[in-house]
Amino acid sequence: MHFLITAGGTREYIDPVRFISNASSGKMGYALAAAAVKAGHEVVLVTAAEGENADGVEAVKVETAGQMLDAVKERFGECDCLVMAAAVSDYRPAEVCERKIKKGEGGLVLTLVPTVDILKWAGAEKKAGQVVVGFALEDEQLRARAEGKLEEKNLDMIVANGPAAIGAERSTVQIKSRGGQWVTIEDETKAVIAERIIEAIEKLAS
Ligand code: CTP
Repeated sequence: MHFLITAGGTREYIDPVRFISNASSGKMGYALAAAAVKAGHEVVLVTAAEGENADGVEAVKVETAGQMLDAVKERFGECDCLVMAAAVSDYRPAEVCERKIKKGEGGLVLTLVPTVDILKWAGAEKKAGQVVVGFALEDEQLRARAEGKLEEKNLDMIVANGPAAIGAERSTVQIKSRGGQWVTIEDETKAVIAERIIEAIEKLAS
């Protein structure tokens, strides 16, 4: 299969040297890319993180949600499966100042505008036979909210986890395919979790 996988937290620039981002390390996306290559698949990794690429993974470096959207749009038609493991910023500054913002006397108010939901674009608008997999990071009502995303974004599978997963070496995730039951993978390394996710995707695609 041809996998298109995203990783890392995007950076939304305020000025040339400052940005808004999140604590995502990109580890899950890199582990998924490594697991998919190991299982014999072709992999393109669109990454906003600095990670070690497994041999055979084609990495496309991006920084912002807009750049990630463009990179995914360019390649989605050619892939069999999109896995959006990236922590894409939901908002970006309405304007990026061309020059470094100078300190002033008072406070500074930033206006943020929504970014395009890449997963929703792929799942709900563009899907043509591809398996589309999303992640959900929830601090409460994990399953209910993740199921909401599965429906709303027309996904084939959702991987749900809690805030403890961010930046961690090991994690607990819950996986649900459309029409399937919840499966919990408890306290495993991200490499093992990635292998299990790739296996589940292979089953869905067969
Ligand atoms: N995602 C995306 N594009 C965005 C925001 C999120 O593709 N602009 C993807 C993420 O890669 C992830 C999934 O959507 O696979 C879930 O992201 P999450 O932030 O948990 O959910 P949201 O739908 O953005 O909603 P909320 O933050 O309100 O929970």
